[in-house]
Amino acid sequence: MKLSVIGCGYLGAVHAAAMASIGHEVVGIDVDERKIESLSNGRSPFFEPGLPEILTSGVESGNLRFTTDMAEAKGARVHFVGVGTPQQKDGYAADLTYVNAAVDALLPYLSPGDIVAGKSTVPVGTAADLAPRIEATGATLVWNPEFLREGFAVQDTIDPDRLVVGVPGPSTGLGTGDEGSGPSTGSGTGATGDEDRGERAAEILREVYHPAVAKGTPFIVTDLATAELVKVSANAFLATKISFINAMAEIAETVGADVTQLADAIGHDARIGRRFLGAGIGFGGGCLPKDIRAFAARAEELGRGESVSFLREVDAINLRRRERAVHLVVDGLGGNVVGKKVTVLGAAFKPHSDDIRDSPALDVAVRLKGLGADVTVTDPEAIENARRAHPQLTYVDDRDDALRDADAVVLVTEWDEYRREISPEHAASLVAGTIIIDGRNCLDPAAWRAAGWIYYGLGRP
Ligand code: UDX
Repeated sequence: MKLSVIGCGYLGAVHAAAMASIGHEVVGIDVDERKIESLSNGRSPFFEPGLPEILTSGVESGNLRFTTDMAEAKGARVHFVGVGTPQQKDGYAADLTYVNAAVDALLPYLSPGDIVAGKSTVPVGTAADLAPRIEATGATLVWNPEFLREGFAVQDTIDPDRLVVGVPGPSTGLGTGDEGSGPSTGSGTGATGDEDRGERAAEILREVYHPAVAKGTPFIVTDLATAELVKVSANAFLATKISFINAMAEIAETVGADVTQLADAIGHDARIGRRFLGAGIGFGGGCLPKDIRAFAARAEELGRGESVSFLREVDAINLRRRERAVHLVVDGLGGNVVGKKVTVLGAAFKPHSDDIRDSPALDVAVRLKGLGADVTVTDPEAIENARRAHPQLTYVDDRDDALRDADAVVLVTEWDEYRREISPEHAASLVAGTIIIDGRNCLDPAAWRAAGWIYYGLGRP
């Protein structure tokens, strides 16, 4: 099928390449000329395992091309919109400038029967606002949220754990109370026409995702508002789960308990589950922090602020953990870090990524620098991005060089290179002071203590 993908950032570039890899003819479109040039040459503008391979094979096969010219979207059956929805500069709500601009630029090239599939994470109600403009061209708007995780984006796109498609129907408006019942229920003027269009659109999306559909991946067809909400509520849940365990870490710190054992113990309950109960310096990245803030802001606008007021607490707990890590370093160094050499292991917001957006790791590094420490940061992939954002820090590629003469070491991104590959004995031979703060609770305290280190975890005795 001919597809266009508008917006070639983390989401769009991966989506375009993944769709080409399953046999579609794809054009990726973005306003950023440098990005388009790099992608056209089969080079990924960011680190994402597996992406360079499918970019190269897509471009070489002729199935995949990239352009800045929106006119090339013409003729595609489905147009995916995957532009960014960052946090507004002066508030918590999502900035929809790019979504609106992308849709407006696309309108002249839409033909009757085309499908516009929104993939960006948007406040509930956005699709209902966009739909009239798109429908005036004879095209249909659906919402098809994306749940990919950075670092596993290719796999998550080709083989997702579920597919969700919101289609037009009688219950697409806000406040109709029809959520979850799907577009085929309810009545009202034009309902049947909408239902038909919705069913046709869902059928085409099934064709797009044929390999996943063929292997039985759950394919949920719902209304537009539910589809938008699925995405923000999934991220809100994940963020809440992380902040829950980090709140338990705060209690554990007060009573001398161990949050990692607590997480293991409650995680055995299948209703709870151990995943996303990793206590530490908390969540960051381009999604969870801004998505929970945008959700809370949207709920306020809807007069439902109290329904998700806990998300403010989730955010506050999360930010407190960064402070706690800084506090442990200061404490470990006797109350004053001025002039002390602190080595920070990690800059990316999580392993397998070079993304430093709202990175807790870099936040800890910057705060320590602000307190007067001489901070050296190392990371397997994110140094270039980190240097651009925070030139005041010292960056060192080689891990041993970074550790040399450190008065304290802080592990803030749990790359395998740090989690598994550092020998505590070898590290001890390099540093000036054997103090380690494990901001991700990913090291074995016994092994580090046995090698002479003073080990601090978050939420651990
Ligand atoms: C997230 C969602 O998982 C994904 O479904 C959505 O599409 C986009 O947002 P991502 O931002 O790539 O994906 O990262 P994720 O793996 O969810 O991790 C988010 C943050 O939470 C990272 O900073 C990570 O270090 C942190 N985290 C994760 C914890 O602190 N503890 C955990 O137990 C798990």
